[in-house]
Amino acid sequence: MKGLILAAGRGTRLRPLTHTRPKPVIRVAGRPIIHYALDNLKDAGVREIGIVVSPDTRTDVQAALGGVEGARVTYILQEQPQGLAHAVRVARGWLGDDPFVLYLGDNLFERGIAPFVQAFDRGGPAAVVALARVEDPRQFGVAEVAGGRILRLVEKPERPPSDLAVAGVYVFGPRIHRVIEDLEPSARGEYEITDAIQRLIDGGHEVQGLPIEGWWKDTGRAEDLLDANRLLLANVEPKNEGRVEESRLIGRVVIEAGAVVRRSTVMGPALIAAGSRVEDAFVGPFTAVGPGAEVRGSEVEYSIVADRAVIENVPTRLQECVIGVGARVTSREGLPRAHRLVLGDASRVEIG
Ligand code: DAU
Repeated sequence: MKGLILAAGRGTRLRPLTHTRPKPVIRVAGRPIIHYALDNLKDAGVREIGIVVSPDTRTDVQAALGGVEGARVTYILQEQPQGLAHAVRVARGWLGDDPFVLYLGDNLFERGIAPFVQAFDRGGPAAVVALARVEDPRQFGVAEVAGGRILRLVEKPERPPSDLAVAGVYVFGPRIHRVIEDLEPSARGEYEITDAIQRLIDGGHEVQGLPIEGWWKDTGRAEDLLDANRLLLANVEPKNEGRVEESRLIGRVVIEAGAVVRRSTVMGPALIAAGSRVEDAFVGPFTAVGPGAEVRGSEVEYSIVADRAVIENVPTRLQECVIGVGARVTSREGLPRAHRLVLGDASRVEIG
């Protein structure tokens, strides 16, 4: 069994974060999202892993995965993100006729993916598709299921036939390549994996729909990133490998090596990453402070503060914030007493 992680698209809904880096390398609970994908594949016994990248995501993804152990990783270039089925077609040479797990690199699964691999290995289905009940299925692929078998799949339907969304993990046998070969692009101009699976079903092949265990997150929006951060931080093992002076650490708190916490309160679950500094500050529950970031004279909770970001002397508590790599939130001295903002395209600021 091989694994194919897709990391070639630019997440338009997460702009401006994704103007500068692809979604799978954004840190959630201190680790790039794609690390969790790799771990889940390895835990399911998949050791040969292909990662589909595009010319503009390749460098970031490779940098995020530097030093990965326990798997043989191959990078596969998709020149244009023309759809999930297109990505599989691009990887056809590397996949050969081996069965494979297709794993969307921006998806997170609480309990891993082993049950899908096991269901496929038990024999029978041409494909196994992970399904999750969601409140609003319109932004996903949606399945109509009877007795564990998928009868119909539709991509982002106006009127969903059920509340069962396609979660970002699929297991395929080699038959999928034959249907992808003569697939037409969809109305949104992409070669859809849902259309390819529908063709398998129409050809009389069994496609099994298996509910996920635990939670699943498609990290499409900033709210999803924060929620995933919350869920993952809730399970971290507390440890203190940094320098903590005149501070209180409450609950599940991880202080990584080289981090400095001074005259501050850190209320878990929270993670203070390597090389970051927290001084005269309050870092509240469900917050991850990234490597090399600084929080000074400020309060921040339920937030992601990415690598090398700086929060300094901000008079109001920051909450539900995603502060991107190297971004700065600071206070302004003197007159005029006004907010001064330099925001990237599609940025969002709420001033209370
Ligand atoms: O997250 C689950 C959903 O993922 C499913 O319910 C849908 O059926 C499925 O089509 C997909 O929808 P999205 O619109 O969320 O897919 P997105 O374009 O965000 O791509 C998912 C990942 O795949 C992302 O990490 C980028 C990567 N990708 C995407 C495309 C279109 C590629 O590597 N190549 C591509 O050509």
